[in-house]
Amino acid sequence: MNDYRLDLVHRPRRLRVNENLREMVAETDLRTRQLVQGHFVIPGEGQTQEVASLPGVSRYTADQLIPAVERDLANGVRSVMLFGVPDHKDAKGSGALDPEGEVPNAVRLLKTAFGDELTVMADVCLCPYTDHGHCGFVEGEQVVNDSSVATLAQMAVVLAEAGVDFVGPSDMMDGRISEIRHHLDEVGFDRTAIIAYSAKYASAFYGPFRDAAGSSPSFGDRRSYQMDHRNPREAIREVLLDLEEGADMVMVKPALAYLDIIRAVREVSTVPVAAYNVSGEYSMVQLAVREGLADERAMVLEILGGIRRAGADLIITYHASRVAAEGWLS
Ligand code: PBG
Repeated sequence: MNDYRLDLVHRPRRLRVNENLREMVAETDLRTRQLVQGHFVIPGEGQTQEVASLPGVSRYTADQLIPAVERDLANGVRSVMLFGVPDHKDAKGSGALDPEGEVPNAVRLLKTAFGDELTVMADVCLCPYTDHGHCGFVEGEQVVNDSSVATLAQMAVVLAEAGVDFVGPSDMMDGRISEIRHHLDEVGFDRTAIIAYSAKYASAFYGPFRDAAGSSPSFGDRRSYQMDHRNPREAIREVLLDLEEGADMVMVKPALAYLDIIRAVREVSTVPVAAYNVSGEYSMVQLAVREGLADERAMVLEILGGIRRAGADLIITYHASRVAAEGWLS
């Protein structure tokens, strides 16, 4: 058996024979510094709440967020994306404009504690703050565009005043990047950057997030503003518009069912491309691990590696803390 020889010139396995060689020829590089950890911020002080739908993820009051971020930072996670989970909601989403709201407070504390060591991004959207749970204002059954954009731009200014490095509009209203850019510049925040959720699809994978943030729409769904998953070309249109309007980074969301979109966006984008490995994608892995159906390390690195290979420069993921804490990439 063992002395049987094929007459082969090409043996791709030669480049796979040992770890050293596999490292040498690896075509994709996944690093902890490319990961952004998502965090949910609640009002008040001294509280940490586990999120049942996102095993391993907690909601923190701003003061409790500091030690959690400090640990991640020590392990190499250099960026966070913040989402507010307010206790007050109304039709106008007025909480989104409160300079003393949970997110501006958290931004101030984080930037005071860590300065430029930590890049702080904050989600810009009305859904956690509106009593109807839509990402813009509602008239009848319609989510209206332009007046929503005006408020989103004000929200971005509130976050910029708190010291945020990046605002991340996730609302999918038309024209919001340009309006946010102009509002920020008018009040002197020309260095506050915009990471645009450019190709954000209406997705069943946001379920655990909506549970964590209490942001499910009370009627209808988000298909009149978020994209249809059948449309790849439209993603390019959204990205090109956001680039023209001044986005500093663009994003594809979700990631896993949209790897082709990440690749396509990467080919046209002149700015870094982010991918959002969303809540449902995270929880599927965690539940499989809990059931003993998957090796967490192997599965997470394959997923994040796949998103990188598709073309993402950075990945927003709830796995970041654990990847870093376990030293899976060091
Ligand atoms: C707010 C927002 C959502 C997510 C990020 N920002 C929810 C939604 O659009 O319903 C989802 C992120 C995730 O699932 O992890 N608009």
